[in-house]
Amino acid sequence: MKTLVAYFSAEMGKTRKIAEELAAKLGADIHEITPAEPYSVADLKWMNPLARCNREKIGKKYVPVANKVQNWEEYNTVYLGFPIWYYAAPNLINTFCKDYDWTGKTIHIFATSGSSGIGKTAEKLESYVTGGKIEDAKRVTSTDEIL
Ligand SMILES: Cc1cc2nc3c(=O)[nH]c(=O)nc-3n(C[C@H](O)[C@H](O)[C@H](O)COP(=O)(O)O)c2cc1C
Repeated sequence: MKTLVAYFSAEMGKTRKIAEELAAKLGADIHEITPAEPYSVADLKWMNPLARCNREKIGKKYVPVANKVQNWEEYNTVYLGFPIWYYAAPNLINTFCKDYDWTGKTIHIFATSGSSGIGKTAEKLESYVTGGKIEDAKRVTSTDEIL
């Protein structure tokens, strides 16, 4: 059985860098979770109340994913990485999780942030990873904190 590193990274590639290092260290496959509509710089300006990120959060909007993991059933361990947005996973990650059958899979969550801790990020994702087991969830700045 195989290990997958699936990640979303939007602002400055902080999560991407960690995901790539992690996949290399684990010898795992890597999958970038891409939104159907890419985020522009303006979309992510959370200081602007009308920015897309705020509209999605406040409106609890469904944010579609553009791409699919190939051969999903081959993986028994998934490292899931994303930036913390508003003390939780971005809505895009809820969509990603809901799209798959997680039965029998072990999940390790890693998140980057400006300063917030992991908080209740894992608990909030729980209902989207049907059948999967979230083993741990950490806010990290390097792969050393994951492995
Ligand atoms: C819409 C939005 C919401 C954010 N919310 C938080 C937050 O609640 N707490 C925090 O510490 N950082 C927050 N951040 C900062 C990101 O978590 C941080 O910059 C992250 O490491 C970026 O990762 P990336 O470069 O992979 O996108 C937010 C950033 C954006 C764009």
